[in-house]
Amino acid sequence: MGRVRPMSVTLRLVRPEDSGLRAQLMAHTLPPEQDFARPARDTLPLADADPGRTSVAILDGDLPVGMFQLDRGGFLPEITDRVEGTLLLRAFYVAPPFQGRGLATRAVAAVADFVRATFPDVDRVLLTVNHANPAAARCYLRGGFADTGQDYLVGRRGPQDVFALQL
Ligand SMILES: CC(C)(COP(=O)(O)OP(=O)(O)OC[C@H]1O[C@@H](n2cnc3c(N)ncnc32)[C@H](O)[C@@H]1OP(=O)(O)O)[C@@H](O)C(=O)NCCC(=O)NCCS
Repeated sequence: MGRVRPMSVTLRLVRPEDSGLRAQLMAHTLPPEQDFARPARDTLPLADADPGRTSVAILDGDLPVGMFQLDRGGFLPEITDRVEGTLLLRAFYVAPPFQGRGLATRAVAAVADFVRATFPDVDRVLLTVNHANPAAARCYLRGGFADTGQDYLVGRRGPQDVFALQL
């Protein structure tokens, strides 16, 4: 009989010295049909070169299952007049072997506490989600984000909705 494993999803800052964690994240891949976000191998180097951009690992127990980034800049000025006190959540993914188990929804639900603890000056997180990506939208909405009703039409893969999490 199968054993039901309790799931504990935690979020952890990815620091330059976290070589083991970084190697596990860099091994993640996403298939072409899931090209709504780029995996860590593409985005970790971008954050390493940009002090405004922070990488956050999604852990299931001790296992890194995905990642996202919190950015003080990026395309934030294109979706809001108030950049101050706001972070852009971007490059969010759970790698395919770990999908469909509620991990992304739990990770999103942990974002508010994580941001409060890590960025005391921030009171709002914004993200964009592609109209053609209902699974991601569902995770964000169930994890506490709200649809602002605003559209962002410049996405790599077509129009996107702007979602907000008020802290
Ligand atoms: C989107 C993604 C993060 C979801 O990760 P996950 O761990 O599988 O998500 P969860 O298991 O927490 O939840 C997925 C939800 O979407 C639902 N879902 C899946 N496919 C769906 C679809 N085509 N339409 C509507 N809902 C869908 C699932 O039923 C589930 O909802 P439920 O819990 O109410 O049943 C993951 O598939 C991913 O990383 N995709 C590639 C990158 C990406 O799209 N990132 C988001 C960029 S904005």
